[in-house]
Amino acid sequence: QLEPGRGKSVVLIGFMGAGKTSVADRYAADYGLAVVDTDQRIEEMAGMPIKDIFASQGEEAFRALETEMLRALLKENETRVISVGGGLPLREENRELLKQLGTVVLLDVSVDTVLERLGRDVSSRPMLRGDDVRARVEELMAFRRPVYRETCHRMVDVNGRTVGEIAAEIHSIL
Ligand code: S3P
Repeated sequence: QLEPGRGKSVVLIGFMGAGKTSVADRYAADYGLAVVDTDQRIEEMAGMPIKDIFASQGEEAFRALETEMLRALLKENETRVISVGGGLPLREENRELLKQLGTVVLLDVSVDTVLERLGRDVSSRPMLRGDDVRARVEELMAFRRPVYRETCHRMVDVNGRTVGEIAAEIHSIL
């Protein structure tokens, strides 16, 4: 395993539906940290929802915004809990930036849990558009999980566990 980075933030990565946003909120509330959500930051920067960025400018433009936003977060140099869009660690440059922000924690989730959590409403998640959501999740997961594992300093299994339990485990392993 890698040594945690020089920043002191707690950085949550993982697949869509892993619970990054809810766990970040809970962690922030329980342990008194500010919280930042990268998707929300990008929506503010772009002045439109993620799905509109994908629709009007495409995935590559969105990925470029993710990198720009990470650089801005690093400059702010604050200690907080950061929840990160599911595809952000796919760029090598972004993986380096994440590690500089702090300790990167993977919320490891199964395909079944993802499908349960997201239900049928994937309209806000442009990466999951299509007829067969399960096949799409399986395909993306197969590609991404090794990348997530290689990027993280710590890993937490989130299947069948509550947000409070997950936040407490993260706190105990940092
Ligand atoms: C994406 C995940 C989304 C969002 C965008 C792309 C992805 O974030 O950044 O729709 O490629 O996995 P969540 O993981 O918060 O859903």
